[in-house]
Amino acid sequence: MPPSNVAESKMQKVLDYLRTNQARFIKDLCDYVRFPSVSAQPEHRKDLKACAEWLVKHCKSIGLETRLCATEGNPIVVAKTPRTKGSKRPHFVVYGHYDVQPAEPFDLWKTPPFEPRIEGRSLFARGASDNKGQNLAHLTAVEAYLKTGTELPCDLTFVLEGEEEVGSKSLAGFLKKNKAELLCDAVVISDTGIPSTKLPALTYALRGIAAFEVTVHGPSRDLHSGIFGGSVDNPAMALCQLLAKLRDKNGRITIPGYYDDVAPLSTYERKQMARLPGNDRQYTKFLGVPKLFGERGFTSTEQRTARPTLEINGLTSGYQGEGSKTIVPAWARAKLTLRLVPNQNPSKIVKSTRDYLTKLCPPTVRLEIKSGHGAEPYLVSPTGPQAQAALRALKAAFGREPVLMREGGSIPIVNDFKKQLRADTLLLGLALPDDNAHSPNEKFDLDCFEKGQLMSAHLWQELAR
Ligand code: BES
Ligand code: ZN
Repeated sequence: MPPSNVAESKMQKVLDYLRTNQARFIKDLCDYVRFPSVSAQPEHRKDLKACAEWLVKHCKSIGLETRLCATEGNPIVVAKTPRTKGSKRPHFVVYGHYDVQPAEPFDLWKTPPFEPRIEGRSLFARGASDNKGQNLAHLTAVEAYLKTGTELPCDLTFVLEGEEEVGSKSLAGFLKKNKAELLCDAVVISDTGIPSTKLPALTYALRGIAAFEVTVHGPSRDLHSGIFGGSVDNPAMALCQLLAKLRDKNGRITIPGYYDDVAPLSTYERKQMARLPGNDRQYTKFLGVPKLFGERGFTSTEQRTARPTLEINGLTSGYQGEGSKTIVPAWARAKLTLRLVPNQNPSKIVKSTRDYLTKLCPPTVRLEIKSGHGAEPYLVSPTGPQAQAALRALKAAFGREPVLMREGGSIPIVNDFKKQLRADTLLLGLALPDDNAHSPNEKFDLDCFEKGQLMSAHLWQELAR
């Protein structure tokens, strides 16, 4: 047989293995999503550990050299394809996260979030799409190579962490310490989206993030609003007034200097973005809003992927139970995040936001600001040879020419990969817009799972070419 046919028949074995083992892969995914690995909630620490241990067992069973690395936070799983000493083959790191977002509000789930349910081609569970299903797709493709005795053309190291949803604090230090072992030609991440099961995409930009908790303190205790109301400031009102000043009627954030460093979009890129599928009418309906709102002068695709924003993620004050309780609450709190774009700098923005809030706060209440996790925005050229290889793998798996897109979400660690490992990241997402990531009734599409496995299987061939 000529060499190209030999390569093809080898690949066929991998593809056959994937095709014939789908039922078991789905069972594996069900086992994986049963762990309530919610990193934001301390009571789930042991569930994160159990989930990591399950991953270690799974990685070992498919033939990866695997270890569990304890950190100050949640453990990191490192799993490598067997390799010869001094291997000269290209090396790729595959990153994923096994932690998930809180499942609250539970009552909006059709079935419990950590009891997987399959309906048609959807597997419902918290974390099914973000990110367990997506990283399992890669593990599955590698399993197919290892179990069929098909030689991989490159060395792979899986790094699966349990703190992505809270800012990847432990992993940043871990990268520094384990740099020698993790130096690689590129990082591959499937933790973003695609427009539809029929339209794959390569993502070339992510937004950054800066998180805050802003508390307004008023009286030393909740007060009877009839006896005292009118003579003291109401912290809930003071907080609302403060927050309302952060955005103007044109959807622009009013923090001084907020837009100073924002890289403008080129006409070419705006044209390309406008060609992505979907229109505002469909989008309005899909989101269930009466009308869209965003920064004036930009399309909704631009607004949600390439422009900076400020969101209130949570707002708490006073009595939340049934019926009424007539009080002036002692405090009010908002959880805020700013989404940042190239070339905004998170620490600079954190400082100007703090200064502005402090300046806006009236003397009748006391302001407390805690800054939380942060991440820089990410932008990589989609024209290099690795991006081209990724596009070919996507096309082979989905049978259709992929699109290029930006995403509005953040993956904090990608900039550390760049700084520590000097590696670019290929963002090859498998999530659908209606997967309900971070929402009730999250699901993962089993076609995306299957196509993701194919994409991964092809990717290693294409990248090594
Ligand atoms: N998978 C997402 C990131 C994402 C979502 C990228 C959609 C592109 C499109 C990831 O799990 C995530 O949710 N990240 C957080 C990071 C934050 C908590 C530091 C985010 O973006 O809110
Ligand atoms: Zn997420």
